[in-house]
Amino acid sequence: MTGRNANPKVQPLIIERWSPRAFDGSEIPQEDLDVIFEAAGWAPSAYNVQPWTFLYAKKGDANWDVFLSQLVEFNQGWARQASVLVYVVSDSQMRSDKGNSDNHSHSFDAGAAWVLAALQARAMGYDTHGMTGIKFGEAEAALGIPADHRLEAAFVIGKRAPKDVLPDFLQEREAPAGRKPVSEIVKAGTFA
Ligand SMILES: Cc1cc2nc3c(=O)[nH]c(=O)nc-3n(C[C@H](O)[C@H](O)[C@H](O)COP(=O)(O)O)c2cc1C
Repeated sequence: MTGRNANPKVQPLIIERWSPRAFDGSEIPQEDLDVIFEAAGWAPSAYNVQPWTFLYAKKGDANWDVFLSQLVEFNQGWARQASVLVYVVSDSQMRSDKGNSDNHSHSFDAGAAWVLAALQARAMGYDTHGMTGIKFGEAEAALGIPADHRLEAAFVIGKRAPKDVLPDFLQEREAPAGRKPVSEIVKAGTFA
């Protein structure tokens, strides 16, 4: 599944988003970051509870080293050159004055929000790269995440750099990935 051969009617922004690992380490203005996170917050969610929280550190700030160290070594290797590292957290509970109940779609909704952040970032000339290569089990404590919340994933935001900043084995992988054909992901009718 290499290369992109999309129906031209698919919105170009969707096809233009891909996940590089070569970043230039430049600073992202706070006002750009605020727009990217606002876009995430415009995602739909069940009962509009907006179960997501985005924890972020900017490269070199007081939280950066702790944030980076919660990624597995492989991801640390390239993500350290990104500009911002974000952890996506979701609240598993629907909260009301009458008590709490489990929110079936907290992860689904947080996923929708991260994708909007990724698309907004691309529209502004930035790139993102999602990660679940996280030291799950340790990272929740290091990031102060409450027990009734779920650490879903991380992503970086930054400006793409030429791939030769990467080691050889990653240069080979530095390209937009393809996708399964629509016929493989859709069924008209039941699963069976
Ligand atoms: C939830 C999630 C977790 C991922 N985890 C990692 C990761 O830990 N390390 C990594 O290098 N890429 C990771 N990726 C990137 C995927 O491999 C990539 O999105 C996929 O191959 C599709 O490529 P594209 O984003 O360029 O279209 C992750 C992506 C997502 C959405």
